[in-house]
Amino acid sequence: MSKPARLPLKVRVFAPASVSNLGCGFDIFGMALERPGDEVVVRAAEGKGIVSVSVTGDGGRVPTDPARNAAGLAVNGVLDRLGSAAGVAIEVRKGIPLASGLGGSAASAVAGAVAADALLGGGLDRTALLECAMIGERKGSGADHADNAAPSLIGGFVLVLPGHPPKMVQLPTPDDLMVAVAHPAMEVETRRARTVLGDTIPLSAGVQQWGNAAGMVAGLLRGDWELIARCMRDAVAEPRRAQLVPGFETVKASAIDAGAVAAGLSGSGPSVLALCRGRTAADSAAAAMADAFREAAGVASDLVVSHANTEGARVVEMG
Ligand code: HSE
Repeated sequence: MSKPARLPLKVRVFAPASVSNLGCGFDIFGMALERPGDEVVVRAAEGKGIVSVSVTGDGGRVPTDPARNAAGLAVNGVLDRLGSAAGVAIEVRKGIPLASGLGGSAASAVAGAVAADALLGGGLDRTALLECAMIGERKGSGADHADNAAPSLIGGFVLVLPGHPPKMVQLPTPDDLMVAVAHPAMEVETRRARTVLGDTIPLSAGVQQWGNAAGMVAGLLRGDWELIARCMRDAVAEPRRAQLVPGFETVKASAIDAGAVAAGLSGSGPSVLALCRGRTAADSAAAAMADAFREAAGVASDLVVSHANTEGARVVEMG
């Protein structure tokens, strides 16, 4: 971002929720949604470093200790990178439900990093902002993965290649692509959902997974829905995580029966996402998933039907 003539006293940033993995891309694929999202306000304050963190919309559950808060850790990353001793106060407004599989901690971290950089006129590039956001994300999940933070930051369907630095590649999506998401009234902590994965996979699962990941990229580049449908399958994480989400297989099948092209766990769950052609199919898939969660697991769901959000995080107020 270019440096303004005078530094602002306050910056408010919206960062969107995201669905990640998309079946075959464990830790490397993610897509931003139009809503919901988290907002973070970073204000100039007396003192040095992060002087306070407050959180709303979380039922009092998100830590306000800057060393344990995703936005706080990301803002601290920005201060470190810029070598800044400025004092800042952080306000996090949670719009994304906790432990939902919709990239909530990543969105808070992204919004914090972007807001702090804008407040301080840092001009960090997007890779640096991603790395700062990942510091916040790491604390929550216990692992380095940028498949929620990357799409929340830059928008769209993103392939993120792990490494130092990670590399973000935005992939095109078909114009008629819509995502339907059912978020059931249950929680799955990403940290726990990663412990059920173990450390090894059979070679045959690896072959399926990298074939599907390559096929998904080709399908998106060509706008080939048949290829996308065939390749949005998870041979690695989903089979081991299905047990964490009561009713999952029934819900997934209900989305396909209602006209979705493909469906699967959103990130580590419990949300289930369906890729659909057009809004009518997406509305039907969303309603079918809500019915299936109610019947199979006895829980209500919040529904989201969204285009890919191609904008990513945005400054909504600066002054
Ligand atoms: N790729 C991460 C995982 C996303 O599946 O654990 C967490 O939402």
